[in-house]
Amino acid sequence: AALRALATDGIQAGHMTLHARSVVKAAGAPAELFNEVLERVLQSGEIKVWKAQQVLDEVRRSAPADRKTAPRRLPEAGVGVGYGKIILLGEHAVVHGRHAIGCPVPLTIRAVVEDGDRGVELLIPRWGVEYQLAKPPEQRRSFEQAAGAILDKLGLADRTLRIEVFPDVPRSMGLGGSAALAVAIVRAPDLHFRLGLTDVEVNELAYLSEQTAHGQPSGIDNTLATYGRPLVYRRGSPPLVELLNIPTPLSIVVGMTQSEGLTARTVANVSEARRRNPRLYEKIFDDIDSLVLQAVSAIQDSDVTTLGDLMNINQGLLNALQVSTPELERLIDVARDAGAAGAKLTGGGGGGAMIALCGDSTTADVQQAIERQGFRTLLVTPGAVQ
Ligand code: PMV
Repeated sequence: AALRALATDGIQAGHMTLHARSVVKAAGAPAELFNEVLERVLQSGEIKVWKAQQVLDEVRRSAPADRKTAPRRLPEAGVGVGYGKIILLGEHAVVHGRHAIGCPVPLTIRAVVEDGDRGVELLIPRWGVEYQLAKPPEQRRSFEQAAGAILDKLGLADRTLRIEVFPDVPRSMGLGGSAALAVAIVRAPDLHFRLGLTDVEVNELAYLSEQTAHGQPSGIDNTLATYGRPLVYRRGSPPLVELLNIPTPLSIVVGMTQSEGLTARTVANVSEARRRNPRLYEKIFDDIDSLVLQAVSAIQDSDVTTLGDLMNINQGLLNALQVSTPELERLIDVARDAGAAGAKLTGGGGGGAMIALCGDSTTADVQQAIERQGFRTLLVTPGAVQ
């Protein structure tokens, strides 16, 4: 029953935000005002098109300087940042001890802590989340669990404080949103209370939170969310974390499907399948590992064609693990037809996002081809000076 309550809780918050986003879209909010209108509609509790139109009119009428109820801007200092990520090759196999390559995306989750007035409050207005942290861990619901595990460990669960979160990494897209959230939630109190945590400690706390949220994470997501640099990762104690040198920047188009990724479920399914047939699955993980190691060489040789081939073969093996979906396959096909050197899903699969490696001349074509099918894209250029 507790598990059901947790799931329902998260799903309701997710549905509410998804519904609100489509309502705000239907009201015709332009991209530059979208988040502001969304936040105000969510705060009003009236998730209706007429309300969104009313809010949009108000936002348009008020000059930015004198918007009395404008959403809070992030302060300059004291902002905890966690990075979103893509996995270039090696997801799932990395859970089972093989290497994977991860790169940050230009999207982050930021959090700030303020003194509060009633226990610990966790606010994520953009996702419609507003929680009063229940002190006994067993009474905590969905989002609270991961944040609560961090605050328990930091000895802050009994304090009065408000954590406000500003998420730019989309949720459940295989882009490491939960880990970026965890890192932001560790770093914000660290800065506010001057705890002096090292990156290693931040990473460990975020891993703890990932375990609470996911069950059996490899640790690559929290490591990327902490360091925000391209890296090769293999789990272990301690894990292997090697910064990846990318001599020629890569051009990668991320295509987001319209279905949420189901990382916890796909990871559990793969582990269950491996349990039934260990020899077969260990062989697939070894094959993926070999692709990852070849990919490291291809990146270092600036060999986009070989890297693309390796990504395509990795996708074939992810199919063998049954973590792809027809929608992901469609986007992968579209990207390959438009000239991508290679394309595969990224992250947990079961929905979420795919990535397409492009040569210089194909990036725009691939991005447009995916967008023409009605899907959102994001350009990631690992190795480029940010
Ligand atoms: O879906 P994401 O962004 O959480 O990525 C999951 C990556 C996996 O390899 C499938 C799981 C893991 O913990 O490494």
